[in-house]
Amino acid sequence: MASPIELARQAAGYDADSVAQLQRLIRTWGLLADLALGDVLVLAPTVADPDQYVVLANVRASTATTLYTHDPIGDRHRANNRPLAHQAFTEGVLLRDVVDLGPHYPEGRAEVIAAPFKLDGKIIGVALRERRVFQRELLLLEQTYLDLSDRLMQMIADGYFPFVGADEPQYGAPRVGDGLLVLDADRRVVFQSPNAVSALHRLGIHRPPTGLRVDDIGLDDSFVRTAYAMKVGVTQEIERRNVTVTTRCLPVISNGEVDGGFILLRDVSELKRRDRLLLSKDATIREIHHRVKNNLQTISSLLRLQARRVESEEGKFALHESVRRIGAIAIVHETLANDASDDASGDDAPFEDVARPLIRLIEEGLQRPVNPIRFDLVGEAGRLPLIRSMPLAVVLTELLQNVVDHAFPPGCVPEEGRIVTVAFDTTEDDLFVSVSDNGIGPPEGFDFAEARGLGLTLVHTFVTAELHGTISMVRGDGPDNAPGTATILKFPRGWEDRVAGPAIDG
Ligand SMILES: Nc1ncnc2c1ncn2[C@@H]1O[C@H](COP(=O)(O)OP(=O)(O)OP(=O)(O)O)[C@@H](O)[C@H]1O
Ligand SMILES: [Mg+2]
Repeated sequence: MASPIELARQAAGYDADSVAQLQRLIRTWGLLADLALGDVLVLAPTVADPDQYVVLANVRASTATTLYTHDPIGDRHRANNRPLAHQAFTEGVLLRDVVDLGPHYPEGRAEVIAAPFKLDGKIIGVALRERRVFQRELLLLEQTYLDLSDRLMQMIADGYFPFVGADEPQYGAPRVGDGLLVLDADRRVVFQSPNAVSALHRLGIHRPPTGLRVDDIGLDDSFVRTAYAMKVGVTQEIERRNVTVTTRCLPVISNGEVDGGFILLRDVSELKRRDRLLLSKDATIREIHHRVKNNLQTISSLLRLQARRVESEEGKFALHESVRRIGAIAIVHETLANDASDDASGDDAPFEDVARPLIRLIEEGLQRPVNPIRFDLVGEAGRLPLIRSMPLAVVLTELLQNVVDHAFPPGCVPEEGRIVTVAFDTTEDDLFVSVSDNGIGPPEGFDFAEARGLGLTLVHTFVTAELHGTISMVRGDGPDNAPGTATILKFPRGWEDRVAGPAIDG
């Protein structure tokens, strides 16, 4: 199923400017259809056969039932089956007719308006308004909608609508049903819809607006003045006493002059409140990460103080190891607290941003800076949530610490220098994390499954139970004196969504 833009380009041969004009019209779709109390369509002759029209776009009203139960986009019509559209296109004038709906619609007839759709005076299609002819008398509100719709259709035919350079209907843009005030050329209100009156009430305006100028009602009317002066739609937010109302004024143009306009109003207070709440929720999560990090740093300081008082070297060492592990977890929280990317939710961050400070942490703890180790980071891991980045940070720290502790014993100095590479690689199915060094390699007969140090035990537990991944630790293929060690972790995609496994024990 082609989109309106694809159809316009391919079937109707629209160039970029014509496509932009169609997009402008489509952006006003809701308004056009709601006022029309029916359907609005855009047709254009096909490139292959100028006697054939293709439906590029359509919109249904939220204020009335549609004539099209199927999706008409892409429908093709012979010119003689749509004589009104064909005539409007070829003659460049607005036409109106009442047609029988045919056997599918036994209840009646439809009123059709066909307006040439233009770009810089050139006709590029036809805008059709089609609505059922009601069997009853129209309500005043309906009549008002239809009058405005008539004028907009005429504006399309005259090339005044859609407005070029109009402000984009943004988030929370008001629709006709949200509240409507119709203005005359003098900016006086000539019609008020009940919802418009309610929206004004919420702003504390209780005078009935009909007969008054917008500024006499007590509203800042600069948006109306600008709309009339510039001949474009202008939106303004009015905020009073915790109430926010979005107002949008569209001028009605006839014979080049503004001879009226209308204002759509919408109370967006609830939308705004939810927005602010979301923003403050993100900020709160960030603040919590910040505090957790501070608390972890306090715990680290306490352990360091304790280490100074412990006599045994083994005890000191164990306490310092704990300080390092806690430091790794603190880094994750710090990264989450500082992540300011656009898609930041406060609970996830690109894992590279965690890995970089982790590497720095290990570098700072290097015992023998005389024989420096170079740390390289390659590839990207993507965003990971806290429940995944925390265990992965611990795992990475252990692997890097092992390189520092075991890979380069005295005498093992590879020719190209001591290098450890942390690499991330994502495929369609998996995330790979590898840590490889060019040191002496794992001990003879080393079996990962049998490794009993705390470091690799933590690695094993976190990778398999918490992260649902697999590990392989192998001897590299470097020269005999420095073959190196490569540890490769593989996590199936979707692993970041799974529920965490059991916590560490033993
Ligand atoms: N990059 C490496 N190069 C060479 N040997 C390694 C490397 N990583 C680990 N090993 C070997 O694996 C053993 C187990 O590592 P593990 O981290 O489990 O314990 P540890 O480092 O000895 O002690 P801990 O981590 O509890 O302080 C090490 O003692 C070492 O022999
Ligand atoms: Mg270790």
